[in-house]
Amino acid sequence: MESSCDETAVAIYASDRGLLAHRVYTQADLHEIWGGVVPELASRDHVRRVTPMIRQVLADAGLAVPPRAGPGPGPGGRGPGGAPRSPVDGVAYTAGPGLVGALLVGAAVARGLAYAWGVPAVGVHHLEGHLLAPLLEVDPPAFPYLALLVSGGHTMLVDVEGLGRYRVLGESLDDAAGEAFDKTAKLLGLAYPGGAKLARLAESGREGRFEFPRPMLDRPGLDFSFSGLKTAALVAIAGSERENGRPLDEQGRADLARGFELAVVDTLVAKTVRALDAGAGRYRSVVVAGGVGANRRLRERLAAAARARGVEVHYPRPEFCTDNAAMIAFAGHARLAAGETTDLRVLARARWPIEELAPPGATPSQ
Ligand code: KG4
Ligand code: ZN
Repeated sequence: MESSCDETAVAIYASDRGLLAHRVYTQADLHEIWGGVVPELASRDHVRRVTPMIRQVLADAGLAVPPRAGPGPGPGGRGPGGAPRSPVDGVAYTAGPGLVGALLVGAAVARGLAYAWGVPAVGVHHLEGHLLAPLLEVDPPAFPYLALLVSGGHTMLVDVEGLGRYRVLGESLDDAAGEAFDKTAKLLGLAYPGGAKLARLAESGREGRFEFPRPMLDRPGLDFSFSGLKTAALVAIAGSERENGRPLDEQGRADLARGFELAVVDTLVAKTVRALDAGAGRYRSVVVAGGVGANRRLRERLAAAARARGVEVHYPRPEFCTDNAAMIAFAGHARLAAGETTDLRVLARARWPIEELAPPGATPSQ
């Protein structure tokens, strides 16, 4: 179960058969008029959606909803009337980081169901879900791999050594890449979330009319900074208006989108290449996860740069790049299979540094 932000998602993963069913409901339309996610509206909408979606996904997977709930003996067990107690071996839910009210909805429902069904509940770190998402695909990358996580909330380069073994090599010091896309899209009059719309507009833009800086490239290390780009876009729009005495026309907006997109993509690719080179042969694969991973220009440029170094680029399929529950089900299943134990806590953490994670059994992870 995933409910950390503005997507309600439920999925069922089986260790022997893979992903059995998954659904995502996005609240984007609900938040669009506000220009961003409104936490209270998000929580309320999760409450509305989550239970019907659980029933639907269980039905999609061909699993019966138990007719009667009550603490039971676990999967496959039989209650007093001979009723099957639990359709699953465990319940995984996103425990953070995210909007705490939204997280609490999924966490409380998941923990409650697990208790009623007599199975364990695992609180999963949302970013662990994103980092492991490529393992849902038929040709998964081998550990260790380098992950570029680029979403609306995060921009990070992570060394993924195995389940629960993550080292953050660099991250954004201010806005995430997706956030910068969305804010600049807003300046161009595009509706929230505007990242994909800006990318579409950039397709008809001309290179070179608007030049943007490549933030942090002149400094050593693997950190990013994108808030200056949004300011540069604002200054460029105002400058053009002053010069021409009228707002940017359609071609001008496309040109600006093109220049902005190139600056972000170049920066992401350059830092990823820097991490690959610093790894000196450690990585056979680089994985791109998060919504900005859907960006076509990023995919092209990164593929070319990685190929030149004999490194493969893996992308989860687009619906597993953005927020989904398949990645949470997968991570929870991996943790349970590796011996993670659970207690009755309802875990919801707005902030949760990924480096606090450990492999199951190594140290208490929650
Ligand atoms: O991972 P995600 O679905 O949500 C989280 O932030 O967790 O990422 C959404 C972000 C948004 O900022 C959206 O504008 C951006 O990904 N995005 C894109 C593209 N498609 C989605 N940014 C640039 N180019 C795209 N094609
Ligand atoms: Zn996410």
